[in-house]
Amino acid sequence: MKIAVLPGDGIGTEIVAEAVKVLGALDLKFEMETALVGGAAYEAYGHPLPEATLKLAKAADAVLFGAVGDWKYDKLERSLRPEQAILGLRKNLGLFANFRPAICYEQLVDASSLKPELVAGLDILIIRELTGDIYFGQPRGRRIATDGHFPGTEEAFDTMRYSRPEIERIAHVAFQAARKRSKRVTSVDKANVLETFQFWKDVVTEVGEQYPDVQLDHMYVDNAAMQLVRAPKKFDVVVTGNIFGDILSDEAAMLTGSIGMLPSASLNSSNQGLYEPSHGSAPDIAGKGIANPLATILSAAMMLRFSLKQPEAAQRIEVAVQSVLTQGLRTADIFSPGATRVNTQEMGAAVVKAL
Ligand code: IPM
Ligand code: MG
Repeated sequence: MKIAVLPGDGIGTEIVAEAVKVLGALDLKFEMETALVGGAAYEAYGHPLPEATLKLAKAADAVLFGAVGDWKYDKLERSLRPEQAILGLRKNLGLFANFRPAICYEQLVDASSLKPELVAGLDILIIRELTGDIYFGQPRGRRIATDGHFPGTEEAFDTMRYSRPEIERIAHVAFQAARKRSKRVTSVDKANVLETFQFWKDVVTEVGEQYPDVQLDHMYVDNAAMQLVRAPKKFDVVVTGNIFGDILSDEAAMLTGSIGMLPSASLNSSNQGLYEPSHGSAPDIAGKGIANPLATILSAAMMLRFSLKQPEAAQRIEVAVQSVLTQGLRTADIFSPGATRVNTQEMGAAVVKAL
């Protein structure tokens, strides 16, 4: 089992170190190799996704990823910014299916900014298409406008587009995931305004006919954003495009108390995957040792389940995480009065001990 370990920037190095310790505590043999990515790689090699890092990732069964980005790179030309590393990995490895589960652990019900009764027992799965949409659509750029409201002035543009096969394959992923859960899929679109998302809705509906046992409904993205904070438990599997999924998954994360709890998996068609916490590099708290490593540790569990076919080890990690929460251990982001405050390393060590 070959794992490429790419800690990246900011808190990435701190949280990935804890996940690696947890993996090391399992009675399994891994071949792990670490490489620079993001701003750290830019500093060392002048590029956020060096050829060697990409090669390592391609050759691995799975990539364990921390986070990339820092405001200090905002002035760089786009192709050199840290974010290009994660976008490049998604594109080059064909990681089109992004799983972002939002589970509210009963121990953390009070950490959510929503009323406990709205989030207690919450267990939704956002499936975000990850290699298409306005993120990657060409053409894009800046130019002098020749039409529109202000011809002759500077303008910028991006292209939202989806092909039929791209929509079909992510729809299949969603329906198959729903079959293992409560057999409901909500497809989120903006068919009332956008051609791309009318097409999305039509294709998802067609694919849905192959899954008569799964209930499919459709929701506009603005309404979905509202329903997620009004009655989040009404959702089960949510499938949507790249940009809407980016936004809704951050919103869903906060329902669970902290974005520091949310793992994610990004898979290609051969089950090779990249596993990363749903949060970013948090440069404001980097180096302080206070980041929550649980999202990364839970991402390692997803890696064991999806790409490495070790479901028992995955479950052991998930049970261990539950157990440290039950012991009352909390990093700053999930702290509430009465709990025991721990730092990043103490949280990692507690999970290892629980294992
Ligand atoms: C995410 C992040 C990325 C995205 C950034 C870092 C490029 O926000 O994984 O959700 O927009 O996809
Ligand atoms: Mg995001």
